[in-house]
Parts: sequence; structure tokens; C-alpha cells
Amino acid sequence: MFKSLIFRSVFLLASVTITNSAIEGKNIKIETPKTSMVLDATKEKPLKFLYYGTKITDNDANNLKTAGTPNVDAYPAYGFNLRREAAVAAKHADGNMTLELVVDSVWTTNNEQSQTHTIRLKDTFYPLTVDVNYLAYHNEDMIETWTEISHDEDGTVELSEFASGCIPLRYGNVWLTQLHGAWGNEGRIDSSPLTHGLRVIKNNDGIRNSHFAHSEVMLSLDGKPQENDGRVIGAALCYGGNFKLVVDTDEKDYHKFYAGINPENSHYHLEKGETFITPHLALTYSNEGIGGVSRNFHRWARNHRLAHGDKPRKILLNSWEGVHFDIKEKEMEQMMADIADMGGELFVMDDGWFGVKYPRNDGTQGLGDWIVNKQKLPHGLKGLIKAAKNKGISFGIWIEPEMINANSELYDQHPEYVVKANNRKEVYGRGGSQMVLDLSNPEVQQRVFQIVDTLMTQYPEIDYIKWDCNNMGMSHGSQYLPADKQSHLYIEYFKGLESVLNLIREKYPDVTIQACASGGGRVNYGILPWFDEVWTSDNTDALQRVYLQWGNSYFFPAIALGSHISATPNLQTYRSMPLKYRTDVAMSGRLGLEMQPNEMTAEEKKQTRKAIEEYKSIRHIIQQGDLYRLMSPYDGLGVASILYTTPEKDDAVYFWWKTEAFRNQQMPRVKMAGLDPDKNYRVMELNRIDKKPLKFEGKVFSGRYLMDNGLEMPVGYDVDTDKRTEWGSRVLRLTAQ
Ligand code: GLA
Repeated sequence: MFKSLIFRSVFLLASVTITNSAIEGKNIKIETPKTSMVLDATKEKPLKFLYYGTKITDNDANNLKTAGTPNVDAYPAYGFNLRREAAVAAKHADGNMTLELVVDSVWTTNNEQSQTHTIRLKDTFYPLTVDVNYLAYHNEDMIETWTEISHDEDGTVELSEFASGCIPLRYGNVWLTQLHGAWGNEGRIDSSPLTHGLRVIKNNDGIRNSHFAHSEVMLSLDGKPQENDGRVIGAALCYGGNFKLVVDTDEKDYHKFYAGINPENSHYHLEKGETFITPHLALTYSNEGIGGVSRNFHRWARNHRLAHGDKPRKILLNSWEGVHFDIKEKEMEQMMADIADMGGELFVMDDGWFGVKYPRNDGTQGLGDWIVNKQKLPHGLKGLIKAAKNKGISFGIWIEPEMINANSELYDQHPEYVVKANNRKEVYGRGGSQMVLDLSNPEVQQRVFQIVDTLMTQYPEIDYIKWDCNNMGMSHGSQYLPADKQSHLYIEYFKGLESVLNLIREKYPDVTIQACASGGGRVNYGILPWFDEVWTSDNTDALQRVYLQWGNSYFFPAIALGSHISATPNLQTYRSMPLKYRTDVAMSGRLGLEMQPNEMTAEEKKQTRKAIEEYKSIRHIIQQGDLYRLMSPYDGLGVASILYTTPEKDDAVYFWWKTEAFRNQQMPRVKMAGLDPDKNYRVMELNRIDKKPLKFEGKVFSGRYLMDNGLEMPVGYDVDTDKRTEWGSRVLRLTAQ
């Protein structure tokens, strides 16, 4: 089951039919249910890009050139008449710096879910080919493009540009929306119009890639982005490593968008007969605004790009914010008892459980030595797993397999395993001693696989792994790669990581794995095929999470976004928020808890138990439904609001959160979206703490009324005076009658 989900996107070559056709002077039309992309693949000519947008007829496609569509290269190569950016640049074995790529042949590959068009470009002189691929899903409005470069020259070809794809956009009032941020402040939205010159978004961390910039963007073709209107292209580079996105706006009629691995410091020396395969660039188009693009990404992610995208996620308690490194058997058992008692389904023991010679009591030591610390856990993991089982919940564990501390038995034995430039000292990160293991080295890959393999063999009951990654690449160099391949480090690192993850998934297809990287350092589609979800931030402050989850929802579905109720005041922002608000925010994603529950009052536990029970009844709507963002926190109106509906629009969940707290503030009334205008919905409040039901509790309204007018939300909670707070939030279920 798992295999068919995950590997259907990664390894698409099973059960294919191939059609060969050397198309001469004929357009290639790449189709998804609602979109078309058209290319001109005339033999012996450069490949031209003609169109990407709403689905068009064959007749329209054939007339594109007469409609004034200019000639733009679909995969511009460096060498001739190219003063601007190139998608690909290479130095041939004889030192020649130019590429002249023309169409050689075209073929299509079909399988159950998709059709791939491959256009082979060949150099007019050198034995070098570039296969440009476009994979179109039959059931999703998503096209994945990537290239495969190989040669038969006598010697090595040096690649200095290798974009996964290029999309020209007609010049105009085009806006680019990107996510940016910082540790603890990830996933912030930035939208601005494209102006002349280059717009570059890139990452050079080496190991993680989404704290500060993201490899996903939206390009709104009709001016300032609108939530439910306007033509928008969404692009996600499916790569976990260094990336570079460029929009080049020159004096011509097109903004040209390029996306690929960041080639800076990563020139690739391609040997004769070797094939360089670029990561997939996922493209989607919608004329329903950025909301339409988000929904396309979410559906595609659940169906093709996420581990177990169709499986409900368990409600969990993670130990990190509750006890940090201070792992003790008794407390772990107490936390398990508490979460089980509140109706949770999984307990995840975070950092601090391992290390014997170098016990992991803080961030300074132990990484690499994945041996249970019996002083902390006298009955080992077996004891904890048994305790979890007795309480009827599953057990999960934190590991950070790609990392090592200088203070570890592994480092004592294998100092050559770390990423480090030769003739330079080690550079330490977290805890003043953390380094990255060199995954370009197959021996290290094997070791990293063994970390998971040993755990899972000894404790097959482990249900969930939190796979952390808390260091960036701090020294550019490999002690394994030869001198002429040092620039391959980051590319080889990710190939190595992929091999490890493939081994893990082949052997352990069912385990749930979360990708975490100092919070939100690994929120990208390059990582997700092997992972079920991501941890978006070490910041669990509910108000900031409204913004953070808003940004992440542009590209990632709720099922993949861990979202935890934590203690108050918050550890990162020191802000105090009522439990109801914290719960109402966490409930809008994959719900969990991140605190020491023995610090909760009996009343808080009762409230949380009820919230968990209610979440279970709406989990399918949030985790599998369609998201409609109603009012953005970024608009500064004092309120943020979203709604999830089932695809059939017969059941929906509405979230409303105050984002500011002023006395007698005038609040806007939020109109709903995504409902069926002709259906009637009964309104029921979830997570209610008010003394009296809301006036509209149990009442029925038409989808049309709710979408035209919305419902008036009281600004605060109707609770005893001593429990009053400046905050307010609501969760409503709307069930079609
Ligand atoms: C990172 C993660 C946290 C936690 C710690 C453990 O910071 O983002 O959630 O797991 O590591 O050291």
C-alpha cells in the first residue's frame, strides 16, 4: 500500500508504454484535467515554449504562433545570443564553453497516473544530449518537469548551470509570492511585483533549505494576488538541498522563471556515459487565484508526494517542550498516561534518551551514539513501548541520524565521517560540537541506515520517528570525495540521503516519519516523499502560528503540518494565550500536544479531552479536505479565518481567530467560501467553552447565505469574569442537511 503511494511518484517507470515519434514541425500539447502546456518541438530546431494556462483546444494550440506568441526557448542553453540567464551551461571536454541544443526526438511514456513527454535535445556538434521531461498527471493539475543530461565526449564535461526547468511568463503586472523567515519565524509571506532585472531566491545552507527562503513560489499573472480570483502559476522545486530560483525580466516580452539546484559551489563534472538528473520542478496553474493553486498543491501532495497521504494522522504528545533533555522513565510513563487519558493516540519521546559514554543531557554531546541511556530509562525502550501498549497508544522516538557530536563514541572511532574541508579544522554548530555526517560517503550512508534499521529491528513496535536535522553545512568539503569532485558535495549529500531514505522506506514502509530541522528547516517537497509530515517551527506560540501556518498552507496540506498545543506563556514568545485559542489554532493542522501535561489543571485536561474527541470527528475534513483561506492575518484586519470542506462540500469546518486585541475594536465579518450555494448547512460550535451556546448554534443556513454574508462572531469568550481574556477564537462545523 505504502509502496504504491510513495514510489509511484518517485519511481514512475513501472508498467509503461512508450510511443516514439520524431515530430516534425508539430506542437506538443501536455495536458492535465484543466490545464495545457504547449511546446514547439520542430526537429533540428531549439525547443520552444508556447503556452501554459487554462486547457485549450488543438485548434487554439495550433494557432498559438499566429496569436502573437513570441519565440522563447523552453530550456535556454548558454553559448549563443544569450545575454541573460541560461537554464543549462556546460564546458565541453575540449574547453569549448557553448551549447547549441536542437530537438532530436520526442517520445511519450504512459502509466496509470500520468503521461510523460520527453524531448531529446542534442548538441549540433558535440555528443551531448539533454532530455527535457514533462510529466502530466491524469487526475491532478500538476506537471513535473526535469532534465537528464549525458554525453559521450572523451573526458569530463563541467556543468555550471542545470536548472530543472524554465517557464516564460508574458511580461505584465506579474507578482511573485514567496515564503521567507528565520528560525522561530518561518513561513512568512512576501508578495511583490516583478520589476526589471533579476529576482533571485536561493539557499546555500547545504543541508536544510527552508528557514530563510523557500523553493516554492507563486506567480500571479493578473496583478496583486487574490485569494480566489486571477491566473496564478505555482512552482515547487522538489529538492531538499541548495536551490536557486530566478526570474529574469529583460527588455523582451517575457519574464523568464528558472528553478533548479543552486549551481554555485556545486559545478558538476559529468563523466562520459554518466547521466545528471535534475530534481523535479512541480508546476500548477489555476484561474481561481492563489487559493486554487494551494488546493492543487495539496491534492497532488496527498496523492503523490507525501508518505501515506491518505492515512489519518494520530493525535500525539511530544515530550520536547515538556521536559527538554530531561528524559526520565517515570515522567515518560506519566506523560503517556496523560495523553492516553485525554484521548491521544501516540507518544513521541524527543531528544535526550541516548548516549552512554557521552550521555545526551544537553546539546553538547551524544549524537551518533544511538544507545539507550539506562540510567534515564532503566527498562529501556522495551519498557516504554510496553507501557504505551498498556495504555492503548503508540510509541514514537526522536533521532537525528545525519548528525554527530565531537563528543561521541562514533566520532572517537570515525573522525573521517564528518563533512569537513581537508587541511581545515572542524567547524562546530549546535552545542558547540555538532557536525554533519558526510552522506556522500557510502559507508556513512550505510551507518545512517543502520541507525533506523537497528532501532526498528529491535523495537518493531516503533510507530513514529521524528527525524531531526539541527545543523547546517558549516565547512564546505568532503573527506571522502576526491579532489576533482569536492564541488559535488552538496549534490552527493542529497543523493546519499535519498539512498538511505529509499532503503528505510523499502524495509519500513509503514512507520510514520516527521521531518524536522531546527523547526522548519525542511519544509519542502524534495524531502516529503519519504516523510509523512514536517515540523514547521520550534515556535509554538498560537498567535504566531496563525501566520506561520497561513504561509505554509500556500504550498503544503494540513495533513503534513504538525501543529501542537503548548504551555503558556509560550517558551519562544513569552506570550500568554488561553487554552481554547491555543487548541483552536492547533486543531487547524495535524493536531498534537507539546507540553508537560502534569502541569495542566483537571479542567484544562477535561477541555483538551473534549477537543481531541471533537478533532477526531473532523480530522478527515481537515486532513483530506479542500482549504479555503477566508481572511488573511497579513491584511491586518484583526481577524484570520479559514475553512476546510470535504470535496463533496457536504461537511465543513470553519476557523476564526482574533489576531489583535483592542477594546471595542471594529471587527470585519468574514464571508465563507468553498461551500455549495445550494446546500443547507447546520452550524455547530466545536471546542465550546462559553457558558451559553452561540445564537446560531443548531441553526441551518444556505451555503449561498454563508458565502455572501458569513456569520457574526462574538469578539471574546463568554466565561466567568476571572477567566476573561483579550483573545477570541471559534471553530464551527457546518454539516449539510
Ligand atoms: C530541534 C527540534 C525540536 C527538538 C530539538 C531537540 O530544535 O526542532 O523540536 O526536537 O531539536 O534537540
